[in-house]
Amino acid sequence: GAPLDVDLSPIQDGQIVNVFWRGKLIFVRKLTEKEVTDMKAVPLSDMIDPASFESRVKKGHDQWLVSYGNCTHLGCVPIGHSGSYEGWSCPCHGSQFDAVGRVRRGPAPTNLPIPPYAFETDTKIKIG
Ligand code: FES
Repeated sequence: GAPLDVDLSPIQDGQIVNVFWRGKLIFVRKLTEKEVTDMKAVPLSDMIDPASFESRVKKGHDQWLVSYGNCTHLGCVPIGHSGSYEGWSCPCHGSQFDAVGRVRRGPAPTNLPIPPYAFETDTKIKIG
């Protein structure tokens, strides 16, 4: 499939936008400053699939999460801004993900994967 350009300029702090690339749901989320601070402070020992904050975002673009949008358990779509970790909760079996898509409560075994993408400007990404 062709790469997908996403204009980030209309996305507000805290907002999650759903896009589709190669038939797959992708979340584009602009974290608030508080969410960035909170996510940087989570100890790796608290995670099911330990991943640093820096591994979940692009350098110099701390406020942006781009992840696939299907639960890594059985593929349901987690609901944003719900659960106990400033992220998502899955309506199917209760998995919870934090604001950068790290699984924090199972049964999901792994974090929401990050698709290939790059910043073209500060307000535009290309997925793919
Ligand atoms: Fe999400 Fe099972 S599909 S918890």
